Amino acid sequence: VLRGSLARKAQISDQISQYGLQPQASFKVAILGASGGIGQPLALLVKMSPLVSALHLYDIANVKGVAADLSHCNTPSQVLDFTGASELANCLKGVNVVVIPAGVPRKPGMTRDDLFNINANIVKTLIEAVADNCPDAFIHIISNPVNSTVPIAAEVLKQKGVYDPKKLFGVTTLDVVRANTFVAQKKNLKLIDVDVPVIGGHAGITILPLLSKTKPTVSFTDEEVEELTVRIQNAGTEVVEAKAGAGSATLSMAYASARFVESSLRALDGDGDVYECAYVESNQTELPFFASRVKLGRNGVEALISSDLQGLTEYEQKALEGLKPELKASIEKGVDFVQKQA
Ligand code: NAD
Ligand code: LMR
Repeated sequence: VLRGSLARKAQISDQISQYGLQPQASFKVAILGASGGIGQPLALLVKMSPLVSALHLYDIANVKGVAADLSHCNTPSQVLDFTGASELANCLKGVNVVVIPAGVPRKPGMTRDDLFNINANIVKTLIEAVADNCPDAFIHIISNPVNSTVPIAAEVLKQKGVYDPKKLFGVTTLDVVRANTFVAQKKNLKLIDVDVPVIGGHAGITILPLLSKTKPTVSFTDEEVEELTVRIQNAGTEVVEAKAGAGSATLSMAYASARFVESSLRALDGDGDVYECAYVESNQTELPFFASRVKLGRNGVEALISSDLQGLTEYEQKALEGLKPELKASIEKGVDFVQKQA
């Protein structure tokens, strides 16, 4: 009887692996702001990942229902819910990647910087908990204004003595996703082939697509460069206006964030060929934070890809110089915010 039961167990376990019910890796991902417009579809996409064994969903409200709903999907990861500050530490313990889309989105007529007063405090508080509970995790910051919230996070982590610049990322993947889409549409290219690096930051003119570095090689007229650059820079506003007061990009952002999460997990899993654009501590320019292509590895950023910044066109060089004052001011605003409270 025992032999029969063991054989049956082995058979079931074979079936489980065959049908993909066992994760291929056992990484834990936490989403802070998980019941929001980005948080919910992002949680769904991360639930689809075979690299995730546990998905921790945190929000100040409404997260129980989201977790119950998601937990019925027959994919490997276990879904756990955490509500309110008293459950935040437990949400974060043992986590490999923390994604932060908590905070308020824009309404028409607002800039991302108009969100600073509310979101700066939210990010600061959440990062304090990350520092205390999972200081080794990759941290993905989505909450706007990213140009300032990433420096805020860095300062908090420094104050806590656990800052690892290789593991703190401002998520700019949506800028790349948009650039790829718009370029493929304009030039009639197969979407899957198109890759446009986007550098600088994540607001207005600080978003700089390097169209001259598009893969596959493609030529643009001056008018096309101007039109595409402006569209990519204003794509967030395009969505804010279309949603007419109901928020900003959520679905495309969830898609972009899920891609960045998957890339991070592949890197953590030992894949040696993972490249993404992200807003990170940088020595590529005189600014302390700058978005560029980075190589990801087990310990976070393994290298900044400096070749993208070489041989820029006159248009790109001018735009790069033009974005620096705004990006510098946003970085300083974030740093000052934390230092003044110290
Ligand atoms: P949303 O209002 O739909 O959701 C935000 C969620 O955060 C809500 O569920 C809310 O309860 C939660 N929240 C608020 N305070 C919290 C706290 N202290 N702790 C935990 N959770 C908290 O907003 P959204 O559309 O999901 O956008 C979220 C943020 O992402 C905004 O700041 C937006 O500007 C930004 N965003 C960034 C990008 C990017 O490319 N980086 C793209 C789109 C949106
Ligand atoms: C975006 O680029 O869609 C986000 O930063 C949200 C916004 O406010 O535009």
